[in-house]
Amino acid sequence: MATTLLFFLLSLLSLPPTFSLQLDTHGSISVLISEKGLVFVKDLLVQQALLSLTPLHVPSIKKSINIPFIGGIEATLSNITLLEINVSSTYIRPGDTGVVIVASGAMAHISMDWKYSYSSWLIPVDISDGGGASVQVDGLEVGLTLKIVNHGGSLNLIIMECGCSLKDISITLDGGASWFYQGIVNAFEEQIISAVETAVTKKIKQGIRKLDLFLENLPKKIPVDDISTLNVTFVSDPLMGQSSISFEINGLFMATDKLAPSNYHFRHSQNKVSCSSASKMLGISLNEAVFNSASATYFSAGFMSWIVDKIDQSLLNTAGWRFIIPQLYKKYPNADMNLNISLSSPPYLSITRDGITTTVFADMTIDVLNSNEITPVACISMVVSCSGSVEILKNNLTGQAGYGDFRLQLKWSKVGNFHMYLIQAAVRVLLADVFVPYVNSRLRNGFPLPIIHGFTLSNADIIYADSRVVVCTDVEHTDAF
Ligand SMILES: *[C@@H]1O[C@H](CO)[C@@H](O)[C@H](O)[C@H]1NC(C)=O
Ligand SMILES: *[C@@H]1O[C@H](CO)[C@@H](O)[C@H](O)[C@H]1NC(C)=O
Ligand SMILES: *[C@@H]1O[C@H](CO)[C@@H](O)[C@H](O)[C@H]1NC(C)=O
Ligand SMILES: *[C@@H]1O[C@H](CO)[C@@H](O)[C@H](O)[C@H]1NC(C)=O
Ligand SMILES: *[C@@H]1O[C@H](CO)[C@@H](O)[C@H](O)[C@H]1NC(C)=O
Repeated sequence: MATTLLFFLLSLLSLPPTFSLQLDTHGSISVLISEKGLVFVKDLLVQQALLSLTPLHVPSIKKSINIPFIGGIEATLSNITLLEINVSSTYIRPGDTGVVIVASGAMAHISMDWKYSYSSWLIPVDISDGGGASVQVDGLEVGLTLKIVNHGGSLNLIIMECGCSLKDISITLDGGASWFYQGIVNAFEEQIISAVETAVTKKIKQGIRKLDLFLENLPKKIPVDDISTLNVTFVSDPLMGQSSISFEINGLFMATDKLAPSNYHFRHSQNKVSCSSASKMLGISLNEAVFNSASATYFSAGFMSWIVDKIDQSLLNTAGWRFIIPQLYKKYPNADMNLNISLSSPPYLSITRDGITTTVFADMTIDVLNSNEITPVACISMVVSCSGSVEILKNNLTGQAGYGDFRLQLKWSKVGNFHMYLIQAAVRVLLADVFVPYVNSRLRNGFPLPIIHGFTLSNADIIYADSRVVVCTDVEHTDAF
């Protein structure tokens, strides 16, 4: 207890620095709980603790008391129940030995029953009496030091220290009080104190073990959809800051069907990103690698290839191309067509302070449909500059994309040469009416951020930085644990 108090005092001296993310990362997602976030966590824990502590049944206490001239009497305190606790101040502070949580200045109310019996050769009849008593406790203090460690990708809580101390108790007998009874009860003071201290400590340790089990069972992967799963395995021990704790999470997308370790590798960038506002509870930093592993996963799953057969019909019949590619019409008059657009590589997304950009390399094959036969007649390679932005929707990070410049080049043709500037307009329609809406419909749901079930993000801000997106956000508790 004394060391807990010492930590408590020491931690008072170290005032919070600005809320910043130290991006010395091994994971591609870093989650930082700021001082405000820690206070939120602490309040939640204290609230849960108080709920589970009352009523608390303390084991009965039996005692033989020797009273001069009378002899030994047997006294018992039973049904000792901690009915109510009021905590006046609570505290949380990360430190080298672990996270220190202190609840102090608590007052508590305890009820109990007392009885005694007595007989001796002097007074051969049994004398006994009993009644209720109430105990007022002042200066109850609970201190806890918890180490959070990574064990096989999950978080474990280790109790380094857990103690409870009662400063002062005053016992009042309900009815029948006399100096005699009071004397008996007072003889129990020390025992009541230590019984309550032991019972409270035991209960808190039980609570921590439950929390430990809860953390241990947090999912290590979040299914996003049929195609992909986000690996949310913790990759290192949490980093204790002066007034914050940060966690490193693998954070890479992987294919749901294989669940093979993602072979996606990324560069470490050691930049420091401050959440613009110190008043946010959580900073979630997502490295480019998160987005690029998603890109690679969806590419491998064949999700970056489209057969376009449902647009403006004039674009899907050789008649519509009569003046642009005369030979096409001559060879296949009035034939239906489709366009096969395939990305040649997964788009590499890069993030800067200005947002997210990527260059898409794709081949567009023009197919002619002739009595159930598909004949590729020409292929145009396209290079499209795209930009994107992300948003928070509930606990999901969602996205939106747009396109900018594009370049076209004829790769091969069985219907003669034709000029790319002639098909620019058609490609623009394709990009605007097919490509962008399709991509945005996939990005609209986004993917879930690693947030514990029962909590919802609120007041989220997005910050673009070099190689990463940072979500600075508050959290609301929406569900019981
Ligand atoms: C024990 O004490 C509690 C709280 O004062 C009371 O509600 C309960 O009836 C008592 N139980 C017995 C067996 O006396
Ligand atoms: C706890 O607080 C409530 C309301 O603030 C008060 O009614 C009650 O008497 C307090 N109990 C103790 C044990 O101090
Ligand atoms: C998930 O991430 C952890 C930590 O980086 C890694 O050890 C594990 O292999 C990954 N799981 C899969 C299925 O890729
Ligand atoms: C579309 O084109 C790609 C190559 O550009 C090819 O691999 C794929 O088989 C084509 N798809 C269809 C349905 O023709
Ligand atoms: C969040 O993403 C998941 C996976 O894409 C999706 O199933 C869910 O509907 C999304 N939630 C919201 C609120 O859009």
